Amino acid sequence: MTDKAQFMDRMLSLGLSRVSEAAALASARLIGRGDEKAADQAAVNAMRDQLNMLDIKGTVVIGEGERDEAPMLYIGEEVGTGNGPEVDIALDPLEGTTLTAKDMPNALTVIAMAPRGTLLHAPDVYMDKLAIGPGFAPDLLSLDMTPTERVKTLAKARGGSTSDITVCILERPRHEELIAEVRATGAAIRLITDGDVAGVIHCAEAEKTGIDMYMGAGGAPEGVLAASALKCMGGQMWGRLMFRNEDERGRARAAGITDLNRIYSRDEMVTDDVIFAATGVTSGSILAGIRREPGYVEAETILMRSKTGSVRRMLYRNPTR
Ligand code: FBP
Repeated sequence: MTDKAQFMDRMLSLGLSRVSEAAALASARLIGRGDEKAADQAAVNAMRDQLNMLDIKGTVVIGEGERDEAPMLYIGEEVGTGNGPEVDIALDPLEGTTLTAKDMPNALTVIAMAPRGTLLHAPDVYMDKLAIGPGFAPDLLSLDMTPTERVKTLAKARGGSTSDITVCILERPRHEELIAEVRATGAAIRLITDGDVAGVIHCAEAEKTGIDMYMGAGGAPEGVLAASALKCMGGQMWGRLMFRNEDERGRARAAGITDLNRIYSRDEMVTDDVIFAATGVTSGSILAGIRREPGYVEAETILMRSKTGSVRRMLYRNPTR
């Protein structure tokens, strides 16, 4: 089999769901315990152990940080058994460490896998993000539009009014102006305290989640993970890296990025087929969280392949001993 054919192998995608599942089960023991670091570490350890059992020659391109900052799942770490296709791995072992520590909704474990060299090597800086769900004209919106223009254009495309639109935004001081402008259009805002991968994914299932658009600045690595999910589910996304200082610009250059002002579309962040898996840690509108009952534990995982557009929801149940 060629590398590409092996990557497409359905069994491999099923293996990826075990990776996100293992991380969620491990971090779930720390839900509501007020310890972000311990929850993250548990997820990292479990994700890495499980990932190293997969028959891939993987390189982490979106991970826990630079090699000198993160001892495990750092950018550039080689993962998998080495016997298999060469792939890029983007992961966030616990997306929503604070959500987990405080037992708040929508904490996920997330991993995406794509052929080598096809995921944007986004440095750990902020990214300005804009996303909508499927079914709209290509390039309906742009990051160069004002927030007002974006809301009005989406409302028109839906054949409704701006007051029918709900925008999801991270609640941060840096978003005060954005929030005020969006509110002035008449649109509703769902403020989230953390977890913008889930925030963006919400747009792909607007009828279920009630969210039509995602806007605002969050982590760039999370942007690539969100783009991977939308590539599988349908929906459009744009991102532009944001730099606060020379050190951050240096990180981007070191990651091979030459045009620092570039706006990336979803397919420019993820240029080939991708497989995406996420498991709920705390319950949210996309996935149920880990459920511990006397005698058993349950985990819900979503596994998606952009090549086929398949979306699988899997419920794992295991007796606890
Ligand atoms: P962690 O899981 O690492 O805590 O990240 C959560 C998160 O909310 C991301 O979803 C988001 O992209 C980023 O943090 C936003 O960063 P900041 O908290 O600096 O605004």
